[in-house]
Amino acid sequence: MIADVQSKAGIEIILAFKGFAMWSTFPLIRLYLKGATASSLNEARLCFEEMKTKAHLYSPVYFENEFTELMKYSSHIVFNSFSQYDKFYPEIKKSGFDISCGIRVNPEYSDVKTDLYNPGRAGSRLGVGSDEFPDRLPEGIDGIHFHVLCESDSYSLEKVLENLEKKFGKYLHQIKWINMGGGHLMTRKGYDHNHLIKLLQNFKKRYRLKVILEPGSAIAWDTGVLVSTVQDIVEHKGVKTAILDVSLTAHMPDTLEMPYRPVIAGATEPGINSKYLYRLGGVSCLAGDYLEEYDFGHELKRGDKIIFNDMIHYTMVKTTMFNGIKHPIIAIWTEDDKLKIIREFTYEDYKNRLS
Ligand SMILES: Cc1ncc(COP(=O)(O)O)c(C=O)c1O
Repeated sequence: MIADVQSKAGIEIILAFKGFAMWSTFPLIRLYLKGATASSLNEARLCFEEMKTKAHLYSPVYFENEFTELMKYSSHIVFNSFSQYDKFYPEIKKSGFDISCGIRVNPEYSDVKTDLYNPGRAGSRLGVGSDEFPDRLPEGIDGIHFHVLCESDSYSLEKVLENLEKKFGKYLHQIKWINMGGGHLMTRKGYDHNHLIKLLQNFKKRYRLKVILEPGSAIAWDTGVLVSTVQDIVEHKGVKTAILDVSLTAHMPDTLEMPYRPVIAGATEPGINSKYLYRLGGVSCLAGDYLEEYDFGHELKRGDKIIFNDMIHYTMVKTTMFNGIKHPIIAIWTEDDKLKIIREFTYEDYKNRLS
């Protein structure tokens, strides 16, 4: 599907590592996507070493002591402000690396409802507003980048583009490429691909630009589960909690932060007649490390498996070792139906993050 959009719309789609960076899968991803977008030196290096290509880079700021190495791993560098651009562009020019520079803009429109995930809101630190733009873009800026969508459809992108053209239209004639960020959930059921393709084709006709999209979630949407086991059942004032061997805060932080309610295999949302309601409790000592009740339709007992669906994106990349809790094992179901263990975590992994 992603490859189809790419070829029909005549655009480039790259993977946002911040959403999914399971590098053992990169050989498969590279069959379809040319590269990745990185937001730090570590991600850029991972792209260079494991995707075997240079990264499109964006970060709110870059650090002087990392910049020389960053340039080695990057084909595109997007700046968050003109002051960052003024600071680092001379180094790029001097370096002789073939790097194309861009500036991130705030299109001043987004229909993302959760503030934590809305970079388009007024006062956002991410991207330059239209009022702060000079009449002509400074020498050396080849591209414009924006990112204001989150799990969105193509109709939201259409509204963002309308606003972008209103606010930044004249600059679109001064550049070579535009990177429309992530949040394009084109692998979700019901996404209108034909609309996206037409929208992008028309945009390209108007501005003759190379168009890049950099989704994270869409690349790994609904591709894997997190399997946990009930260790104990506790009850307090009529509330039953199944305590698991995983932690929401350490392993699935979006379930608390976003907040995002995961789908659990075999469980439903509570109804008025639900008899078998259980909270799902994490193994950390954080009081809020639990999910509100689900209806399991039967009594839960020690040893039962609780399977969290769609747990690949924004999980592995966000985990912590809070409380020293062991990371879940990472494994792949192979095409010939075998479970291949990719990585198990040890005491050394925990210890090496501390000193
Ligand atoms: C600049 C940028 N690009 C791409 C993405 C990926 O977004 P998504 O995983 O929603 O597609 C993000 C997510 O925060 C982002 O900040």
